[in-house]
Amino acid sequence: MKMQMVTCVAPVNIAVIKYWGKRDENLILPLNSSISITLSPTQLRAKTTVALSKDFEKTRIWLNAVEQNPDNPRLQNIIRKIKHRAFRCNGEKNGQANKEDMLNWHLHICSENNFPVSAGLASSAAGYSCLVAAMANLFEVEGDLSGIARLGSGSACRSMYGGFVEWDLGHCSDGSDSLARQIAPCDHWPELRALLLVVSEQPKTVSSTLGMQNSVNTSELLRSRVECIVPRRLAELRASIAEKDFEKFAQICMKESNQFHAICLDTYPPIGYLTEVSDQIIALVHRFNKLCERLKVAYTFDAGPNACLFLMEEDVPRFLSLIRHFFRPVNNGPENFIHGLPVDVPRVTTEDVLNISIGVMPDSIHYVIYTSVGVGPHKLEGSEHCLLNDKGYPK
Ligand code: DP6
Repeated sequence: MKMQMVTCVAPVNIAVIKYWGKRDENLILPLNSSISITLSPTQLRAKTTVALSKDFEKTRIWLNAVEQNPDNPRLQNIIRKIKHRAFRCNGEKNGQANKEDMLNWHLHICSENNFPVSAGLASSAAGYSCLVAAMANLFEVEGDLSGIARLGSGSACRSMYGGFVEWDLGHCSDGSDSLARQIAPCDHWPELRALLLVVSEQPKTVSSTLGMQNSVNTSELLRSRVECIVPRRLAELRASIAEKDFEKFAQICMKESNQFHAICLDTYPPIGYLTEVSDQIIALVHRFNKLCERLKVAYTFDAGPNACLFLMEEDVPRFLSLIRHFFRPVNNGPENFIHGLPVDVPRVTTEDVLNISIGVMPDSIHYVIYTSVGVGPHKLEGSEHCLLNDKGYPK
């Protein structure tokens, strides 16, 4: 069978200035700009293989081994946009007739994540950005692709770049200037690390799409946040990143997370994404910072109970010793508790335990992923990486 196939990986991104609220539901245009950090795809990534053949009878998509309905409008929008750009950019290059044929062929798409889906770990961002990267590669579409990834999921546009990324809200009604761009490369702040604390692998109670719709319709706090608070915080966060000022960064990061969840509670009926375990993680971070007499750890939570903590590499072992103590793994076994980058975690000190003095919640964190800032989407060469076999079906 004659077939063209491309496999890409794409990273997860964690918003420090949150996107919450759209001004256009179809074009996925946000009410405010946001800033995120792309995490290393070595630890957290989506992987997507896209195949194109004139012998495929219809477009099919498999997500984490389960076949999905390809009629999903967000998916269809992405396919249409990529094909449109391919036609415009490459029509002449590859011979008009051949290209036109290819654009009418069907696709087989297979995608998987190496982390829990829908648990508030930005899986849709990685997934849609990976799909766009793979399709753009297949159809030889060049230039900025964040505007197309945005049509899959708003936050996906930020996963099109590595390092520190800003998604400009834009002002055009067609969304042409609502794009993501890198504000600092991935090696800009080499000591910065992230710890993802996986509290729950259950799907979200309320999807981000629905949650933000309800907030836009009912939360008065959201309006003043968008108008008055976000513009100032964007400028402050950009400066803290440029200056690598962790204390300034940490304060904005935590306040942003808290304000986002305050808006969820101000939504009517209220949305509560945080759990008792999330609250305990927040308490641990604040007590640790107080004990150190400076901000050494920052938390941020998206639409779920899992935490993303930012800290400097030198503080990771001590802080992990505290996490292991207060949220101690019983069922999972301590050896499976910390995934990702290698780290030697010392025994927790009695002094630290007494000073922090929060309640112990055994087995409440399933595992921790230790990672760093990472690069954007890229292509994997070699058929061993493909998720589809030589007939175009999942391996
Ligand atoms: C809380 O990008 O998942 O993670 O655009 O409707 O698909 P849709 O929403 P999505 O929302 C992400 C919300 C957030 C904050 C953020 O990532 O900025």
